[in-house]
Amino acid sequence: MHVVVTGSSRGIGRELKTRLAARGDRVTGTSRDHSSGTRLDVSDPGQQARFAAQIKGDPVDLLICNAGVYLDKTMKINDYTAEVWAKSLAVNVTGVFLTVQALLPNLRLSQSPRIAIISSQMASHARAPGGSYAYRASKAAALNIGRNLATDLQPEGIAVGIYHPGWVRTDMGGEEGEISAQESAEGLIREFDALTPETSGCFHTWDGRVHAF
Ligand SMILES: NC(=O)c1ccc[n+]([C@@H]2O[C@H](COP(=O)([O-])OP(=O)(O)OC[C@H]3O[C@@H](n4cnc5c(N)ncnc54)[C@H](OP(=O)(O)O)[C@@H]3O)[C@@H](O)[C@H]2O)c1
Repeated sequence: MHVVVTGSSRGIGRELKTRLAARGDRVTGTSRDHSSGTRLDVSDPGQQARFAAQIKGDPVDLLICNAGVYLDKTMKINDYTAEVWAKSLAVNVTGVFLTVQALLPNLRLSQSPRIAIISSQMASHARAPGGSYAYRASKAAALNIGRNLATDLQPEGIAVGIYHPGWVRTDMGGEEGEISAQESAEGLIREFDALTPETSGCFHTWDGRVHAF
């Protein structure tokens, strides 16, 4: 199986890449620098086009849109600037869509194509504890994109799942996170393996629970 993981330089993405490679999958990990293979800033259309050209004709069985930023973790309402919004949306929303768009020809070459979008429980409208406006909105948009891609790609048999990876001890999640990147990646991979056209459009947690929209 050929898997593409965006944002594989650290955190959950690096762990996904390591675990998938260890079980024998062929993994193309992308990063903004050259640290983990192929260079890709997901928000850069030029780099997306170059990446698509590099892997043209190579089937992709699983695309994991993992790259993300959380710029407003500690921001108060008055701290927000247009730039914080623009950067958050460029990576977490536009970046997800551009990656899917760029790799659709490769997914179409697979016998069992799947797309996994790493969103967050913070995407859910059911939870509204306040704060993190740009991150929450961006993850809600990523969830929405995944749900609608699931509909559009259903006739082609391309399954799309959207996931909450847990509160994970990474640079983003912080040391107080509830689970390790290893636990998160293990659970997520189990979820990706279980994703089928029948379950396409699901919003699941890393440990297999259905998440409220
Ligand atoms: N940790 C949590 O508790 C938690 C909870 C819910 C959801 N998530 C989601 O899970 C995913 C991974 O999070 P994490 O905790 O592993 O975060 P992390 O440790 O901060 O790592 C983020 C990864 O995304 C990459 N990235 C950032 N901007 C990028 C861009 N423009 N183009 C390409 N790659 C980019 C980073 O690359 P560089 O090294 O180049 O910066 C890094 O590899 C994110 O989508 C996050 O929103 C995390």
